[in-house]
Amino acid sequence: MSKKFAPIIIANWKMNGLLLDSMQKFKQIRNNIQEGLVGCEIVICPPFTLLRDMAEKIPGTGVKLGGQNCHHEGNGAFTGEISANMLKDMICEYVILGHSERRTNLNEGSELVNKKATISHNEGLSTIICVGETMYERNNELAKVVIREQVLHSLPQSSNINNTIIAYEPVWAIGTGETPTLEQIEEMHDYIEDVVASELPKFGGNVRVIYGGSINSKNSAAILNIKNVAGLLVGRASLDVDEFWRIIETVS
Ligand code: PGA
Repeated sequence: MSKKFAPIIIANWKMNGLLLDSMQKFKQIRNNIQEGLVGCEIVICPPFTLLRDMAEKIPGTGVKLGGQNCHHEGNGAFTGEISANMLKDMICEYVILGHSERRTNLNEGSELVNKKATISHNEGLSTIICVGETMYERNNELAKVVIREQVLHSLPQSSNINNTIIAYEPVWAIGTGETPTLEQIEEMHDYIEDVVASELPKFGGNVRVIYGGSINSKNSAAILNIKNVAGLLVGRASLDVDEFWRIIETVS
């Protein structure tokens, strides 16, 4: 099915990977790219510690780099934090913000995500803003209320079709092996598109909504085939290069 944008496949390595092993994986991905035809945009979001080495090897591969988070201030006395311009310095083009693991474990709310997205946009980074409901919220007919609140409060004024992707990641699907039905994914992507079209005029009725949560090579083709799924955010399956490559081949 033809879509408005080439699909984007984003690997979220989370807090996984030491230098030698990760660079080996990255080399394998680069080799695969050289050998095959790639029909999608590929973004890898490794831990911060790997960015520098990967940045050195990335030019010419077609792969793009992303951070998994950034701070909402530009620089200063924020021990342990990473700024958007540091990501830019490591030739990152993307940053994941508002991942449910941060919303839940670190209490990050949509207002904070909004500030992080603003500074990321100012630095020229594209933001991948994650939204998603818990199973409790879904079972209590609250999923759309929660998603609407997260979309409208997390996306800053600076957001537009060129610098923002929304990742729909149901919290209950992340790392569990469970996924929503294809109909449930389509319905929620439709809903997110409607919210953006009616309340965020800067998008001009266009928005890229990608799906994340227990993606693997067995379910990726069917999910990518849904008319309004613009790409995939892949966690665990992206740590296994062969499996990740089978997902990439879904669109090649
Ligand atoms: P998962 O993670 O693919 O391991 O479910 C997805 C994510 O958290 O982005």
